[in-house]
Amino acid sequence: MPITVNDQSHDLPDDVRVSLLDFLREHLGLTGTKKGCNQGACGACTVLVDGERVLGCLALAVQYEGRSVATIEGLAEGDDLHPLQALFIENDGFQCGYCTPGQIMSAVALREEFARGSPSAVSSDMATTPERSLLEIRERMSGNLCRCGAHNGIIDAITTYVAEDGR
Ligand code: FES
Ligand code: FES
Repeated sequence: MPITVNDQSHDLPDDVRVSLLDFLREHLGLTGTKKGCNQGACGACTVLVDGERVLGCLALAVQYEGRSVATIEGLAEGDDLHPLQALFIENDGFQCGYCTPGQIMSAVALREEFARGSPSAVSSDMATTPERSLLEIRERMSGNLCRCGAHNGIIDAITTYVAEDGR
């Protein structure tokens, strides 16, 4: 069974050792997803699999046979940026931009986590819907590092994005 990436079906690699990250970048030419540490520490390779955050460097492509992967290339609608992409520009949420695709994909999933009421490590109560607080957002984005120091702009963009969600 093939894998779906940004709504397009692709054959999986014959070599079962190929990571999801290398499959996206080297096999499909989707270089928007970045390789930072290649060991699960920076979040630059974050993509979504069926809406959940996954670190592409720690996953094998063949694990996701039959699943649906979303990368930064699939986020905009033609020339219309995704609202979070626009917020990153408005809030000066990047400098070199290397961490940006991972930050954005991660935050898209983060807002869905809030909508589902999923708790985090800093949620005070596991039984009630977590507050959409700065503490919660920082905790949920703690797996995405920025080496440039754009964290304040990144958090401003994501805070606005989360607050705009009416659910
Ligand atoms: S490249 Fe995957 S977490 Fe750093
Ligand atoms: S903008 Fe350069 S690493 Fe984040």
